[in-house]
Amino acid sequence: MQTAVAQEITVEADKPGAAIRPTMWGIFFEDINMAADGGLYAELVKNRSFEFNNPLMGWTEHSSVPGNGNILVLNRGAENPDNPRFIRVTHYTDGEYGLSNEGFRGMGIKQGETYHFSIWDRPAAPVALRLELQNPNGQPIGSARLLLNPSTDWKRDTISFTATVTEAKARLYIGFEGQGVVDLDMISLFPQHTWKQRPGGLRADLVQLLADMHPGFIRFPGGCIVEGRDLTNRYQWKKTVGRVEDRKLIMNRWNVEFAHRSTPDYFQSFGLGFFEYFQLAEDIGAEPLPILNCGMACQFNTAEVVPIPDIDPYIQDALDLIEFANGDTSTKWGGLRAAMGHPAPFHLKMMGVGNEQWGPQYVERYKVFTRAIKARYPDIRLVNSTGPDPNGEKFDFLNDTLRKLHADILDEHYYRNPGWFLQNATRYDHYDRNGPKIFAGEYAAQSDKVVSVNNRSNWQCALAEAAFMTGLERNADIVQMASYAPLFAHVDGWQWTPDLIWFDNLRSYGTADYYVQKLFANNKGTAVLPLTRQGSPLTGQDGLYGSACIDSAAREIVIKLVNTTAQPQSLNIRLDGVRKVSSPARAFLLSAARLDAVNTLDNPTAISPVGTSIPSQGKKLASTLAPYTFSVIRIKI
Ligand code: AHR
Repeated sequence: MQTAVAQEITVEADKPGAAIRPTMWGIFFEDINMAADGGLYAELVKNRSFEFNNPLMGWTEHSSVPGNGNILVLNRGAENPDNPRFIRVTHYTDGEYGLSNEGFRGMGIKQGETYHFSIWDRPAAPVALRLELQNPNGQPIGSARLLLNPSTDWKRDTISFTATVTEAKARLYIGFEGQGVVDLDMISLFPQHTWKQRPGGLRADLVQLLADMHPGFIRFPGGCIVEGRDLTNRYQWKKTVGRVEDRKLIMNRWNVEFAHRSTPDYFQSFGLGFFEYFQLAEDIGAEPLPILNCGMACQFNTAEVVPIPDIDPYIQDALDLIEFANGDTSTKWGGLRAAMGHPAPFHLKMMGVGNEQWGPQYVERYKVFTRAIKARYPDIRLVNSTGPDPNGEKFDFLNDTLRKLHADILDEHYYRNPGWFLQNATRYDHYDRNGPKIFAGEYAAQSDKVVSVNNRSNWQCALAEAAFMTGLERNADIVQMASYAPLFAHVDGWQWTPDLIWFDNLRSYGTADYYVQKLFANNKGTAVLPLTRQGSPLTGQDGLYGSACIDSAAREIVIKLVNTTAQPQSLNIRLDGVRKVSSPARAFLLSAARLDAVNTLDNPTAISPVGTSIPSQGKKLASTLAPYTFSVIRIKI
């Protein structure tokens, strides 16, 4: 079926407009939905150092004869305030005595994979540990025996072993042989095949999904997690670097945020800390964009603020972070970066001051942070909040005030229904071209409403985001960065939906929204080209949206078209300013028959790009956009 009259779309290839920055399409990482511990950070043992509020959460004692062993939780807080707790296990010869760890909603174990076990120990006499990976029925699916020699000091012992069966809900069992007393801490298990095979590294499949997007930047570590429920619970980057055993665990603020999605075992071990975030950014070719606490706790929670006279330590954290990322190795923080294995700088160029703050308190803190950072590092570009909404009183106040103060980059957030995204494809067409740049820092179309558990990452949402993103691209002179949020969610441990990428302990998949993001990021182009229908940009006429750019390195024109209607739409695409189009155009089509269609773990690529080609005639392409389709067309010139 074809529409009767083909509409003419014109792309003016000889009129490149705004440059599209390499940072245009990026990713937003927050440790929400078990994105770090239990997700990207490949550690399989939950509560490995017994620092959760309940020190034995995640651990189960197994005793075949009553009284044949016991556990004492000790606290050496004065001696080791960052890792105060350890356990003392006393075990006797009769029967079986051991401990098991349940992992993060189980442990994802793969047949043939090697697992690296490590433990901090201080045995009074030799102790043999029988290590077993077990399936949910308690049957072994991989085992090893580790002898711990006596020691009066803490030492680290390790052993590696291979799993015989794939199991998504395995557990780790540690059996104690014979009689003895042993102090234990930092009990850890990692797969060998982490991202880049780094010991203690990241889950390779999840990083691969990010790398495949070729993101221009990665924002970390959030999100409200930066702010904390209160200031004590805020994210402090200095506590996330150095040796993992010295990174002080705290509760994850999403642990208690939503009563209906309570996650009592959600903490932050910081095994994935600021060094690892910078390294991840470098690995995937993304500019790092750290967001720091500006002396304000989450305003949806306590809204605690640090008084301005006491704010220096917060500002010092920001200055020291720039030294950590970029400083010479002879400096304190540059030296720590080098000691952690990265003497070369991480080339930090921008930083966020505060997450989703609002009100005059934010402006006060914005001023002192900006003054201090710009005085020392004038080239660092600062990202500033415009609050949680894209309009309304909070937004208007910060938008007006920060523009008058000549802020570098304003961070706008929009969690709205698909209709809002369609209506706002023109949002930036009338923004001040000489004001601050825009970072569309958090957005996602909500199929139901914000924080509803019924939100689905369906095709209707993804299609609306694609339409909206054509408006971001058309305005690339002021919109310089954009990222969907949140990024990750564990299917058994989430608090917030929708999310870009879902995973269980073994598998992962990108949603339809992921493929929209990926298509934009992989077809970014270098400068905007005018794309018009009857002389006007294509911003929803007959349900069609579009943008175009040139990719000067590839010598290609890239056209993005979104048909949000249930009708096919015939288009004649005329390319002005080219001599002729020499070969068929390549096209990538993303579509689904139903607007409520979704990808799932079992059908992970139901909605994913399909490659095709479009014949050209002279300077023209004739294309029919199928119903509910996002198309990216690349034309060699
Ligand atoms: O993305 C989830 C949350 O939404 C972020 O933590 C916060 O910045 C926003 O309110």
